[in-house]
Amino acid sequence: MSRTLTVHEAGLAVADPRAYADEERLHDALSLLRRESPVHRVEAPGYNPFWVITKHADVMEVERDNKLFLSAPRTLLSTAEVDELQRQQREQGMELRTLVHMDDPQHRVVRAIGADWFRPKAMRAMQERIDELARQYVDRMVELGGECDFVRQVAVHYPLYVILSLLGLPESDFPRMLKLTQELFGGQDEELRRGESAQEQMAALFDFFDYFNALTTARRREPTGDLASAIANARVDGEPLSDVDTASYYVIIATAGHDTTSATIAGGLHALIENPDQLRRLKDDPSLLPLATDEMIRWVTPVKEFMRTASADTEIRGVPIAEGEAVLLSYPSANRDEDVFTDPFRFDVGRDPNKHLAFGFGVHYCLGAALARMEIQALYRELLPRLDSIELAGTPRWTATTFVGGLKHLPVRYTLG
Ligand code: HEM
Repeated sequence: MSRTLTVHEAGLAVADPRAYADEERLHDALSLLRRESPVHRVEAPGYNPFWVITKHADVMEVERDNKLFLSAPRTLLSTAEVDELQRQQREQGMELRTLVHMDDPQHRVVRAIGADWFRPKAMRAMQERIDELARQYVDRMVELGGECDFVRQVAVHYPLYVILSLLGLPESDFPRMLKLTQELFGGQDEELRRGESAQEQMAALFDFFDYFNALTTARRREPTGDLASAIANARVDGEPLSDVDTASYYVIIATAGHDTTSATIAGGLHALIENPDQLRRLKDDPSLLPLATDEMIRWVTPVKEFMRTASADTEIRGVPIAEGEAVLLSYPSANRDEDVFTDPFRFDVGRDPNKHLAFGFGVHYCLGAALARMEIQALYRELLPRLDSIELAGTPRWTATTFVGGLKHLPVRYTLG
């Protein structure tokens, strides 16, 4: 019989990458925190202390007040060793500084550079390419002969190829980008990461920078009308972005647009397999696809956290938070909050309303939300009418990570027309 989890242990689970590879364990911990200690201080070995915020309303409140709760300097949960490395890089002007790391006024200006590329007009222009890629990947499932690892052979490629097409990179570079994004985001997972040490993991980041610095030079010399050219040739106060800021922009687009969407597509399929009534319902009524897409996003919540640092003494839900302390926004927890979602642990392809926070909230709200929804819908619009049957062909496995993740293996057996 399993021992009852304590609130202290539940807090430690939030900082333990392995907890995210075991959804039941993770949600046991998060549900306990929501109930007993919704603003909870975590002092986990190897990490600087932080507060974990587990209620939907509190996550929104923190994200809404972007003057009181800043994205810099502690944007993401990392070990004290990595925090220190980043502090040193900041001092040397070598830090990764993407949109998610920035605060206003810089954030507003830099976000505007890429924003047009994610508006409905630009998205409509992408629709044809996305539909074509979706068709290619479902055809590939047919070629694979009725059995595949849906994550490795379908879900990880498709969103990356969409985003790299939008950036305007040559198709020959796609496999290299795939490997680098996985090394970056799989940094806590033994199977995916590059090496043991923080230095080795940082090396993946520097490889990214090298690649994208060369891209900037090429697009400045000869703009090609793609998103990469817009970034390379952007001006802020009349000046081009620095090399680090330019490369950081590509990094956030290439990485944020990739594992998040593939995790959702794979986790969505897993949820449909586990809930055959919902699969049947969606096949019978394809008009549910937009609602089903958001339910998949809520269900998977591929971004597990972002952090904010208090710029003044304050309180959340009556708990005092001192200036300089960091709060971790637990999106998986907010998206199972019983105060907001009816029967939150039920996967419901017709869930409406569905006020999930998987894309965040406020000024940092996911720039690629419309694109992500479009990609997920395009794949399922192609797959579902052709799918006669599907079942698990082995044990699904999840990535060990506290940041972005989801299934890393989903063996499936199917009949497809
Ligand atoms: C930011 C989730 C797909 C680009 C974010 C944030 C979350 C998120 C939680 C931070 C929001 C906040 O702090 O309030 C997701 C999920 C996705 C997804 C769940 C898929 C299901 C994409 C795609 C792109 C993208 C396809 C395309 C490039 C970005 C960018 C930011 C961002 C650029 C930074 C925005 C800023 O800080 O102003 N995303 N994302 N994301 N996302 Fe996504």
